[in-house]
Amino acid sequence: MKTKSGNLLFPIGIGTWNIAGVFNADPTAKYKGAEPSYGNEEAEIEAIRYSISKGQNHIDCAELYGAFYTDEVVGRAIAGLKRDDLYIADKLWKTSVGKGLVQPTVKKMLEKLGTDYLDMLYIHAPWDGVNWQEAIPQIDELIDEGVVREFGVSNFTVSDMEDAQKIAKHPIIANQMNYNVLYKVEVDEMLRKHCRDNNIQLIAYQPVKRQEVLANKTIQEIAKAHEASPAQVALAWLLAQGALPIPKAVKKEHIDENVLSINIQLSEQDLDKLNKEK
Ligand SMILES: NC(=O)c1ccc[n+]([C@@H]2O[C@H](COP(=O)([O-])OP(=O)(O)OC[C@H]3O[C@@H](n4cnc5c(N)ncnc54)[C@H](OP(=O)(O)O)[C@@H]3O)[C@@H](O)[C@H]2O)c1
Repeated sequence: MKTKSGNLLFPIGIGTWNIAGVFNADPTAKYKGAEPSYGNEEAEIEAIRYSISKGQNHIDCAELYGAFYTDEVVGRAIAGLKRDDLYIADKLWKTSVGKGLVQPTVKKMLEKLGTDYLDMLYIHAPWDGVNWQEAIPQIDELIDEGVVREFGVSNFTVSDMEDAQKIAKHPIIANQMNYNVLYKVEVDEMLRKHCRDNNIQLIAYQPVKRQEVLANKTIQEIAKAHEASPAQVALAWLLAQGALPIPKAVKKEHIDENVLSINIQLSEQDLDKLNKEK
């Protein structure tokens, strides 16, 4: 995966869930009336810009985030930056995958983000009872038109990926999964092999398990030995698995830590210990 300008992605991406409001599945909910957020968009915009200044060039968005508002905040964060040096991924929610819905949804995403293309368009999940397959020819068309560069899936099992690839003209480039050093069950060896064999990049969401990794004794010990933090060890473990973690971090010290985690070399012994944790 590369930016349009040809740069490789920084090994750690920028998560945006909880930026500008929390998960809200109601598309009619207005930001101010939705669940409470940090209420501090300016700091969140500053955090995204700070992450980009540190070299993080990949932003993970979803139309759903912040009650369909986060994309707008990301748009404000990237305004004035060189677009082709950024890799912007967005995700279709289940209300947007039906016939005729993908193109207008992407149009709205682009308006909010202030751009004229997406680097990746994901199907957010293979929801039961939702004909998410209908989105695929529409995504193909957007790729042919140059409005979307790459096709991704999220929360897809091997069989979901196989179903999707049977319909899709363009290859699946990434699968975004719930994956971290304490949560490995959805990314088993079969899924990893399928991704390896098909050049599908594993993107790891909840990479620090929403801070749960911080309290784990084994992770703490390994962190101490590396003069690192537990979050850095959690990210280094994912990097060692070939995954691309996308932590969400607003605090500057977290962003700094996350960016520096790419320098941590875990030993075989560390990895053996961490592989057993859950
Ligand atoms: N595809 C999907 O279904 C799906 C589902 C969930 C998430 N995602 C994506 O994945 C991203 C990451 O997942 P997530 O936000 O749920 O969980 P996460 O990244 O594991 O956790 C975010 C939390 O960890 C804190 N944090 C970040 N770096 C830290 C560090 N170095 N030390 C200590 N704490 C740190 C953040 O604090 P501060 O913000 O205060 O710095 C925030 O409270 C999301 O933002 C979203 O883009 C995708």
